Amino acid sequence: MTILVTGGAGYIGSHTCIELVKAGYDIVVADDFANSCMEAVRRTRKLAGVEFPFEKIDLTDYDATQKLFDKYQIDAVIHFAGLKAVGESGKIPLTYYHNNLDSTLSLLEAMKSHSVKNFIFSSSATVYGPEAPVPYNEATPVSRITSSPYGNTKLMIEYILKDEVKANPGFNAVLLRYFNPVGAHESGEIGENPNGIPNNLMPYVAQVAVGKLDMIHIFGNDYDTPDGTCLRDYIHVVDLAKGHVAALKKIKENCGLFVCNLGTGKGTSVLEMVKAFSKSCGKDLPYEFAPRREGDLPAFWADPAFAKEQLGWVAEKGIQEMCDDVWRWQSKNPAGFPQD
Ligand code: NAD
Ligand code: UD1
Repeated sequence: MTILVTGGAGYIGSHTCIELVKAGYDIVVADDFANSCMEAVRRTRKLAGVEFPFEKIDLTDYDATQKLFDKYQIDAVIHFAGLKAVGESGKIPLTYYHNNLDSTLSLLEAMKSHSVKNFIFSSSATVYGPEAPVPYNEATPVSRITSSPYGNTKLMIEYILKDEVKANPGFNAVLLRYFNPVGAHESGEIGENPNGIPNNLMPYVAQVAVGKLDMIHIFGNDYDTPDGTCLRDYIHVVDLAKGHVAALKKIKENCGLFVCNLGTGKGTSVLEMVKAFSKSCGKDLPYEFAPRREGDLPAFWADPAFAKEQLGWVAEKGIQEMCDDVWRWQSKNPAGFPQD
Protein backbone atom coordinates (compact mmCIF):
# COMPACT_ATOMS: atom_id res chain seq x y z
CA MET A 1 0.00 0.00 0.00
CA THR A 2 1.46 3.38 -1.00
CA ILE A 3 0.77 6.43 1.11
CA LEU A 4 1.20 9.99 -0.13
CA VAL A 5 2.48 11.99 2.85
CA THR A 6 1.88 15.68 2.17
CA GLY A 7 3.96 18.00 4.35
CA GLY A 8 6.21 15.00 5.01
CA ALA A 9 9.30 17.21 5.33
CA GLY A 10 7.70 18.98 8.30
CA TYR A 11 7.75 18.21 12.00
CA ILE A 12 4.93 15.68 12.42
CA GLY A 13 5.10 14.42 8.83
CA SER A 14 8.79 13.46 9.03
CA HIS A 15 8.26 11.43 12.21
CA THR A 16 5.23 9.77 10.67
CA CYS A 17 7.20 8.78 7.54
CA ILE A 18 9.53 6.75 9.76
CA GLU A 19 6.66 4.95 11.51
CA LEU A 20 4.92 4.24 8.19
CA VAL A 21 8.05 2.65 6.72
CA LYS A 22 8.52 0.65 9.94
CA ALA A 23 4.96 -0.62 9.59
CA GLY A 24 5.70 -1.81 6.03
CA TYR A 25 4.07 0.94 3.95
CA ASP A 26 5.58 2.46 0.82
CA ILE A 27 5.57 6.25 0.96
CA VAL A 28 5.80 9.20 -1.40
CA VAL A 29 6.46 12.59 0.19
CA ALA A 30 5.33 15.93 -1.24
CA ASP A 31 6.25 19.28 0.29
CA ASP A 32 7.00 22.77 -0.98
CA PHE A 33 9.42 23.59 1.88
CA ALA A 34 7.28 26.54 2.98
CA ASN A 35 8.29 25.56 6.53
CA SER A 36 10.88 22.82 6.05
CA CYS A 37 13.93 21.88 4.02
CA MET A 38 15.64 19.11 2.04
CA GLU A 39 17.93 18.25 4.95
CA ALA A 40 14.88 17.09 6.91
CA VAL A 41 14.01 14.75 4.03
CA ARG A 42 17.59 13.42 3.83
CA ARG A 43 17.68 12.69 7.55
CA THR A 44 14.23 11.12 7.52
CA ARG A 45 15.27 8.83 4.65
CA LYS A 46 18.35 7.81 6.64
CA LEU A 47 16.36 7.09 9.82
CA ALA A 48 13.70 5.22 7.84
CA GLY A 49 16.39 3.25 5.99
CA VAL A 50 14.63 3.87 2.66
CA GLU A 51 15.29 6.36 -0.17
CA PHE A 52 11.56 7.09 -0.53
CA PRO A 53 10.51 9.36 -3.40
CA PHE A 54 10.22 13.06 -2.68
CA GLU A 55 8.46 15.67 -4.85
CA LYS A 56 8.85 19.38 -4.22
CA ILE A 57 5.45 20.76 -5.14
CA ASP A 58 3.02 23.37 -3.92
CA LEU A 59 -0.21 21.45 -3.43
CA THR A 60 -2.32 24.52 -4.11
CA ASP A 61 -1.17 24.03 -7.73
CA TYR A 62 -3.96 21.86 -9.17
CA ASP A 63 -2.02 20.78 -12.28
CA ALA A 64 1.08 19.82 -10.32
CA THR A 65 -1.08 17.83 -7.90
CA GLN A 66 -2.80 15.98 -10.76
CA LYS A 67 0.62 15.15 -12.22
CA LEU A 68 1.75 13.79 -8.87
CA PHE A 69 -1.14 11.34 -8.94
CA ASP A 70 -0.40 10.50 -12.59
CA LYS A 71 3.17 9.62 -11.64
CA TYR A 72 2.51 7.46 -8.56
CA GLN A 73 -0.08 4.81 -7.79
CA ILE A 74 -1.40 6.24 -4.48
CA ASP A 75 -3.70 4.24 -2.18
CA ALA A 76 -4.14 6.75 0.63
CA VAL A 77 -3.21 10.32 1.49
CA ILE A 78 -2.07 11.60 4.88
CA HIS A 79 -2.45 15.35 4.61
CA PHE A 80 -0.08 17.22 6.95
CA ALA A 81 0.73 20.06 4.55
CA GLY A 82 -0.51 23.40 5.77
CA LEU A 83 0.44 26.64 7.43
CA LYS A 84 0.08 26.40 11.20
CA ALA A 85 1.19 29.54 13.06
CA VAL A 86 -1.84 30.74 15.01
CA GLY A 87 -0.60 34.34 15.53
CA GLU A 88 0.54 34.75 11.92
CA SER A 89 -2.83 33.49 10.68
CA GLY A 90 -4.49 36.49 12.36
CA LYS A 91 -2.21 38.85 10.44
CA ILE A 92 -2.42 37.19 6.99
CA PRO A 93 -5.72 35.28 7.09
CA LEU A 94 -6.16 35.14 3.30
CA THR A 95 -2.80 33.41 2.92
CA TYR A 96 -3.92 30.82 5.47
CA TYR A 97 -7.35 30.26 3.92
CA HIS A 98 -5.83 30.08 0.44
CA ASN A 99 -3.01 27.70 1.32
CA ASN A 100 -4.82 25.34 3.67
CA LEU A 101 -8.14 25.15 1.81
CA ASP A 102 -6.79 25.12 -1.76
CA SER A 103 -4.18 22.46 -1.03
CA THR A 104 -6.91 20.24 0.41
CA LEU A 105 -9.32 20.86 -2.48
CA SER A 106 -6.57 20.28 -5.02
CA LEU A 107 -5.74 16.93 -3.37
CA LEU A 108 -9.41 15.92 -3.24
CA GLU A 109 -9.85 16.74 -6.94
CA ALA A 110 -6.76 14.75 -7.89
CA MET A 111 -7.93 11.87 -5.70
CA LYS A 112 -11.32 11.92 -7.39
CA SER A 113 -9.88 11.80 -10.90
CA HIS A 114 -7.55 8.94 -9.89
CA SER A 115 -10.15 7.01 -7.82
CA VAL A 116 -8.19 7.33 -4.57
CA LYS A 117 -10.62 7.11 -1.68
CA ASN A 118 -8.64 7.23 1.55
CA PHE A 119 -7.74 10.46 3.33
CA ILE A 120 -6.31 11.18 6.78
CA PHE A 121 -6.37 14.79 7.89
CA SER A 122 -4.31 16.64 10.53
CA SER A 123 -6.99 18.44 12.48
CA SER A 124 -6.62 20.08 15.86
CA ALA A 125 -8.21 20.20 19.29
CA THR A 126 -8.84 23.86 18.52
CA VAL A 127 -12.03 22.83 16.63
CA TYR A 128 -13.75 22.13 19.96
CA GLY A 129 -13.68 25.89 20.64
CA PRO A 130 -13.55 27.74 23.93
CA GLU A 131 -16.82 26.48 25.42
CA ALA A 132 -16.34 22.69 25.19
CA PRO A 133 -16.29 20.74 28.47
CA VAL A 134 -12.93 19.20 29.46
CA PRO A 135 -11.80 16.55 28.73
CA TYR A 136 -12.61 17.03 25.05
CA ASN A 137 -14.63 14.13 23.74
CA GLU A 138 -15.42 13.31 20.10
CA ALA A 139 -19.14 13.34 20.90
CA THR A 140 -18.92 17.07 21.71
CA PRO A 141 -20.02 19.10 18.67
CA VAL A 142 -17.35 21.29 17.14
CA SER A 143 -17.51 25.01 17.80
CA ARG A 144 -19.11 27.34 15.22
CA ILE A 145 -15.86 29.27 15.06
CA THR A 146 -12.38 28.87 16.57
CA SER A 147 -10.00 31.42 18.08
CA SER A 148 -7.98 32.00 14.87
CA PRO A 149 -8.10 31.90 11.07
CA TYR A 150 -5.71 28.91 11.33
CA GLY A 151 -8.23 27.08 13.51
CA ASN A 152 -11.05 28.07 11.18
CA THR A 153 -9.24 26.41 8.26
CA LYS A 154 -9.23 23.17 10.28
CA LEU A 155 -12.94 23.53 10.99
CA MET A 156 -13.74 24.27 7.33
CA ILE A 157 -11.68 21.35 6.04
CA GLU A 158 -13.47 19.06 8.50
CA TYR A 159 -16.78 20.20 6.94
CA ILE A 160 -15.46 19.70 3.40
CA LEU A 161 -14.40 16.15 4.23
CA LYS A 162 -17.71 15.36 5.96
CA ASP A 163 -19.58 16.51 2.83
CA GLU A 164 -17.28 14.51 0.55
CA VAL A 165 -17.91 11.33 2.57
CA LYS A 166 -21.68 11.90 2.24
CA ALA A 167 -21.48 12.54 -1.49
CA ASN A 168 -18.92 9.95 -2.51
CA PRO A 169 -19.73 6.36 -1.45
CA GLY A 170 -16.60 4.44 -0.53
CA PHE A 171 -14.69 7.61 0.38
CA ASN A 172 -13.00 7.31 3.79
CA ALA A 173 -11.95 10.40 5.75
CA VAL A 174 -10.23 10.16 9.10
CA LEU A 175 -10.09 13.43 11.03
CA LEU A 176 -7.39 13.25 13.67
CA ARG A 177 -7.60 16.01 16.26
CA TYR A 178 -4.14 16.53 17.71
CA PHE A 179 -3.58 18.00 21.14
CA ASN A 180 -0.13 19.57 21.80
CA PRO A 181 2.56 17.69 19.86
CA VAL A 182 6.07 17.98 21.35
CA GLY A 183 9.18 15.76 21.52
CA ALA A 184 11.51 14.59 18.80
CA HIS A 185 12.89 11.39 17.33
CA GLU A 186 15.06 9.61 19.92
CA SER A 187 18.12 9.92 17.64
CA GLY A 188 18.07 13.71 17.97
CA GLU A 189 18.41 13.90 14.17
CA ILE A 190 14.98 15.35 13.42
CA GLY A 191 12.66 17.56 15.46
CA GLU A 192 10.65 20.75 15.45
CA ASN A 193 12.43 23.55 13.60
CA PRO A 194 10.43 26.76 13.95
CA ASN A 195 11.25 29.88 11.96
CA GLY A 196 12.21 32.93 14.04
CA ILE A 197 11.25 33.26 17.69
CA PRO A 198 9.00 30.33 18.62
CA ASN A 199 5.44 31.03 19.70
CA ASN A 200 4.82 27.61 21.19
CA LEU A 201 6.03 26.69 24.65
CA MET A 202 8.29 23.70 24.01
CA PRO A 203 10.50 25.14 21.26
CA TYR A 204 10.77 28.40 23.24
CA VAL A 205 11.92 26.55 26.37
CA ALA A 206 14.37 24.50 24.29
CA GLN A 207 15.92 27.66 22.85
CA VAL A 208 16.33 29.15 26.32
CA ALA A 209 18.03 25.91 27.39
CA VAL A 210 20.50 26.13 24.52
CA GLY A 211 21.22 29.83 25.18
CA LYS A 212 19.55 31.28 22.08
CA LEU A 213 16.93 33.05 24.19
CA ASP A 214 17.41 34.55 27.67
CA MET A 215 14.31 33.85 29.64
CA ILE A 216 11.05 31.90 29.56
CA HIS A 217 7.93 34.05 29.93
CA ILE A 218 5.09 32.10 31.50
CA PHE A 219 1.85 33.62 30.26
CA GLY A 220 -0.38 33.88 33.34
CA ASN A 221 -0.01 32.40 36.83
CA ASP A 222 -3.47 33.33 38.09
CA TYR A 223 -5.56 30.71 36.27
CA ASP A 224 -7.89 28.46 38.24
CA THR A 225 -5.47 25.51 38.01
CA PRO A 226 -3.37 23.78 40.71
CA ASP A 227 -0.29 26.01 40.23
CA GLY A 228 -2.03 28.91 38.45
CA THR A 229 -0.48 28.19 35.02
CA CYS A 230 -2.34 26.68 32.04
CA LEU A 231 -2.76 22.95 31.57
CA ARG A 232 -2.28 21.26 28.19
CA ASP A 233 -2.22 17.71 26.87
CA TYR A 234 1.34 17.38 25.53
CA ILE A 235 1.79 14.34 23.29
CA HIS A 236 5.09 12.90 22.04
CA VAL A 237 5.38 13.30 18.27
CA VAL A 238 6.37 9.63 17.86
CA ASP A 239 3.22 8.52 19.69
CA LEU A 240 1.27 10.88 17.43
CA ALA A 241 2.99 9.39 14.37
CA LYS A 242 1.99 5.89 15.51
CA GLY A 243 -1.59 7.13 15.80
CA HIS A 244 -1.56 7.66 12.01
CA VAL A 245 -0.42 4.09 11.41
CA ALA A 246 -3.30 2.93 13.63
CA ALA A 247 -5.70 5.15 11.67
CA LEU A 248 -4.70 3.41 8.43
CA LYS A 249 -6.07 0.17 9.88
CA LYS A 250 -9.40 1.95 10.35
CA ILE A 251 -9.30 3.09 6.71
CA LYS A 252 -8.87 -0.54 5.64
CA GLU A 253 -12.17 -1.28 7.40
CA ASN A 254 -13.86 1.27 5.09
CA CYS A 255 -14.77 3.51 7.99
CA GLY A 256 -16.41 6.33 6.00
CA LEU A 257 -16.13 9.35 8.29
CA PHE A 258 -14.07 8.67 11.40
CA VAL A 259 -13.19 11.39 13.91
CA CYS A 260 -10.68 10.77 16.67
CA ASN A 261 -8.66 12.64 19.29
CA LEU A 262 -4.94 11.97 19.55
CA GLY A 263 -3.91 12.98 23.05
CA THR A 264 -2.73 11.42 26.28
CA GLY A 265 -5.68 12.30 28.50
CA LYS A 266 -3.43 14.11 30.96
CA GLY A 267 -3.01 17.85 31.56
CA THR A 268 0.44 19.22 32.43
CA SER A 269 1.04 22.78 33.59
CA VAL A 270 3.47 25.25 32.05
CA LEU A 271 5.48 25.26 35.28
CA GLU A 272 5.64 21.45 35.36
CA MET A 273 6.87 21.51 31.78
CA VAL A 274 9.62 24.04 32.57
CA LYS A 275 10.73 21.96 35.57
CA ALA A 276 10.81 18.73 33.53
CA PHE A 277 12.88 20.43 30.83
CA SER A 278 15.28 21.81 33.46
CA LYS A 279 15.85 18.22 34.58
CA SER A 280 16.49 17.08 30.99
CA CYS A 281 19.09 19.77 30.29
CA GLY A 282 20.65 19.62 33.76
CA LYS A 283 20.19 23.27 34.72
CA ASP A 284 17.47 25.42 36.25
CA LEU A 285 15.99 27.38 33.38
CA PRO A 286 15.25 31.06 34.08
CA TYR A 287 11.58 32.04 33.92
CA GLU A 288 9.35 34.91 34.86
CA PHE A 289 5.60 35.28 35.03
CA ALA A 290 4.08 37.49 32.35
CA PRO A 291 0.49 38.60 31.64
CA ARG A 292 -1.95 36.08 30.21
CA ARG A 293 -1.76 35.60 26.42
CA GLU A 294 -4.92 36.61 24.62
CA GLY A 295 -7.00 33.67 23.45
CA ASP A 296 -5.41 31.08 25.78
CA LEU A 297 -7.74 28.68 27.53
CA PRO A 298 -6.95 27.78 31.16
CA ALA A 299 -6.97 24.02 30.71
CA PHE A 300 -7.86 21.33 28.20
CA TRP A 301 -6.90 17.78 27.49
CA ALA A 302 -8.20 14.85 25.48
CA ASP A 303 -10.54 12.08 26.42
CA PRO A 304 -8.39 9.35 24.82
CA ALA A 305 -10.86 6.48 25.39
CA PHE A 306 -12.29 6.43 21.86
CA ALA A 307 -8.81 6.16 20.27
CA LYS A 308 -8.02 3.25 22.55
CA GLU A 309 -11.29 1.48 21.83
CA GLN A 310 -11.40 2.09 18.08
CA LEU A 311 -7.74 2.19 17.06
CA GLY A 312 -6.17 0.17 19.85
CA TRP A 313 -3.84 3.16 20.18
CA VAL A 314 -2.59 4.71 23.42
CA ALA A 315 0.11 7.35 23.86
CA GLU A 316 2.98 5.75 25.76
CA LYS A 317 5.67 8.36 26.27
CA GLY A 318 5.65 10.64 29.31
CA ILE A 319 6.62 14.27 29.84
CA GLN A 320 10.21 13.53 30.89
CA GLU A 321 10.86 11.51 27.73
CA MET A 322 9.34 14.31 25.62
CA CYS A 323 11.72 16.84 27.23
CA ASP A 324 14.76 14.51 27.03
CA ASP A 325 14.16 13.96 23.31
CA VAL A 326 13.68 17.68 22.57
CA TRP A 327 16.85 18.46 24.48
CA ARG A 328 18.79 15.86 22.47
CA TRP A 329 17.50 17.36 19.20
CA GLN A 330 18.06 20.99 20.27
CA SER A 331 21.51 20.47 21.77
CA LYS A 332 22.72 18.49 18.72
CA ASN A 333 21.19 21.08 16.35
CA PRO A 334 21.15 24.44 18.14
CA ALA A 335 20.42 26.25 14.88
CA GLY A 336 17.94 23.65 13.62
CA PHE A 337 18.55 21.95 10.27
CA PRO A 338 21.59 23.27 8.39
CA GLN A 339 20.53 25.45 5.45
CA ASP A 340 21.05 23.98 1.99
P1 NAD B 1 5.11 21.86 9.79
O1 NAD B 1 5.02 23.27 9.38
O2 NAD B 1 6.39 21.38 10.40
O3 NAD B 1 4.77 20.89 8.56
C1 NAD B 1 3.85 21.26 7.55
C2 NAD B 1 4.56 21.04 6.22
O4 NAD B 1 3.66 21.40 5.16
C3 NAD B 1 5.80 21.90 6.04
O5 NAD B 1 6.89 21.07 5.72
C4 NAD B 1 5.46 22.85 4.89
O6 NAD B 1 6.58 23.15 4.10
C5 NAD B 1 4.40 22.05 4.15
N1 NAD B 1 3.47 22.84 3.36
C6 NAD B 1 2.72 23.92 3.76
N2 NAD B 1 1.96 24.36 2.74
C7 NAD B 1 2.21 23.55 1.67
C8 NAD B 1 1.73 23.49 0.34
N3 NAD B 1 0.83 24.38 -0.12
N4 NAD B 1 2.20 22.54 -0.48
C9 NAD B 1 3.11 21.63 -0.04
N5 NAD B 1 3.60 21.63 1.22
C10 NAD B 1 3.15 22.58 2.06
O7 NAD B 1 3.89 21.57 10.78
P2 NAD B 1 3.58 20.31 11.69
O8 NAD B 1 3.71 20.73 13.10
O9 NAD B 1 4.33 19.13 11.23
O10 NAD B 1 2.03 20.14 11.40
C11 NAD B 1 1.54 19.22 10.44
C12 NAD B 1 0.04 19.37 10.35
O11 NAD B 1 -0.54 19.12 11.62
C13 NAD B 1 -0.42 20.77 9.94
O12 NAD B 1 -1.54 20.65 9.10
C14 NAD B 1 -0.81 21.39 11.26
O13 NAD B 1 -1.78 22.41 11.10
C15 NAD B 1 -1.38 20.21 12.00
N6 NAD B 1 -1.35 20.38 13.46
C16 NAD B 1 -0.15 20.68 14.06
C17 NAD B 1 -0.11 20.89 15.43
C18 NAD B 1 1.19 21.25 16.11
O14 NAD B 1 1.16 21.69 17.24
N7 NAD B 1 2.36 21.05 15.49
C19 NAD B 1 -1.28 20.77 16.19
C20 NAD B 1 -2.48 20.44 15.55
C21 NAD B 1 -2.49 20.25 14.16
C1 UD1 C 1 -1.48 26.68 20.29
C2 UD1 C 1 -2.70 27.00 19.45
C3 UD1 C 1 -3.28 25.73 18.87
C4 UD1 C 1 -2.22 24.94 18.14
C5 UD1 C 1 -1.05 24.69 19.10
C6 UD1 C 1 0.08 23.95 18.47
C7 UD1 C 1 -3.64 29.05 20.41
C8 UD1 C 1 -4.79 29.63 21.18
N1 UD1 C 1 -3.68 27.72 20.24
O1 UD1 C 1 -1.91 25.90 21.38
O2 UD1 C 1 -4.33 26.05 17.98
O3 UD1 C 1 -2.75 23.71 17.67
O4 UD1 C 1 -0.55 25.95 19.56
O5 UD1 C 1 0.65 24.70 17.43
O6 UD1 C 1 -2.74 29.74 20.00
N2 UD1 C 1 3.22 29.53 26.94
C9 UD1 C 1 3.97 30.29 27.80
N3 UD1 C 1 5.07 30.91 27.30
C10 UD1 C 1 5.45 30.80 25.99
C11 UD1 C 1 4.66 30.01 25.12
C12 UD1 C 1 3.54 29.39 25.64
O7 UD1 C 1 3.67 30.41 28.98
O8 UD1 C 1 6.47 31.39 25.60
C13 UD1 C 1 2.03 28.81 27.49
C14 UD1 C 1 0.73 29.21 26.83
O9 UD1 C 1 0.16 30.27 27.48
C15 UD1 C 1 -0.09 27.90 26.98
C16 UD1 C 1 0.98 26.79 26.97
O10 UD1 C 1 2.22 27.43 27.24
O11 UD1 C 1 -0.69 27.91 28.23
C17 UD1 C 1 1.06 26.08 25.65
O12 UD1 C 1 1.19 27.06 24.62
P1 UD1 C 1 1.46 26.67 23.09
O13 UD1 C 1 2.63 25.74 23.02
O14 UD1 C 1 1.53 27.93 22.32
O15 UD1 C 1 0.19 25.81 22.67
P2 UD1 C 1 -1.38 26.18 22.81
O16 UD1 C 1 -1.58 27.61 23.12
O17 UD1 C 1 -2.01 25.18 23.69
